[in-house]
Amino acid sequence: MSRELQDLAVRVATAAGERAATWRTQGVEVSALKSSPTDVVTEADEATETFLREQLLDARPDDGILGEEGDGLASRSGLTWVVDPIDGTVNYLYDIPAWAVSVAVVEGDPEPGRWRTVAGCVVNPVLGEVYAGFAGGGATLNGRRLTASGRTDLGRALVATGFGYAATRRREQAEVLLRMITRVRDIRRMGAASLDLCGVAAGRLDAYWERGLQPWDHAAGALIAREAGATVGGLAPGSRETEEFTLAAAPGISGALRAALVDAGVP
Ligand code: IPD
Repeated sequence: MSRELQDLAVRVATAAGERAATWRTQGVEVSALKSSPTDVVTEADEATETFLREQLLDARPDDGILGEEGDGLASRSGLTWVVDPIDGTVNYLYDIPAWAVSVAVVEGDPEPGRWRTVAGCVVNPVLGEVYAGFAGGGATLNGRRLTASGRTDLGRALVATGFGYAATRRREQAEVLLRMITRVRDIRRMGAASLDLCGVAAGRLDAYWERGLQPWDHAAGALIAREAGATVGGLAPGSRETEEFTLAAAPGISGALRAALVDAGVP
């Protein structure tokens, strides 16, 4: 069952990504602002979410939907699809090839920390990269099995992070970053949380952390990173990833990274 759900996630995310990539070549218009003047929505975000909803409900009419751009739809089956039509909207706007369609299916209450993620897919249509995974089934990139990095020394770790859109939150995040940057090999800010999490799954990054992620930003990527053997969760060991905090790391550095983040003042 989980594998079939993964295959459906791959099918719809890939088709949605192809459409969004085509629209990108035709130009992008900002259609609305959300939490701040820099938090934009494009027409493609909205149209891609509509497409994902139609495809998923056509295949599984009793499932719920929780998406970035639309109203939620309650589940009658116990499963909810958590979708980000375009993660990395600002990259999409600027034609930076680091945006993704993220589709996950979760069981139970569709609330991070309480849900159980069953399957997920993150597609970077520009690079033609399809990350997928299902609970207990491992994670793949274009069908190739993924394994998180074997890094054991935080000082040599390449670590990604991200920033929220609100000015106060950004200032706090920048202050933490200032203290962290001397304790790791280097920092990356790529601009799409789902791809950062998949980067940890692929061993292209040794770790990633961010505060303030929304459910659709991390649902699929966190499953894929976990299935690739990364340690994924919140700031406290054993806690789950939530809006409060999301961390994914090579198991050999997760403890040291958590301790360094606490030292750096993560609240
Ligand atoms: C954003 C991206 C970004 C992360 C932000 C997210 P959006 O999602 O994933 O990398 O730092 O926290 O909100 O707005 O592009 O879907």
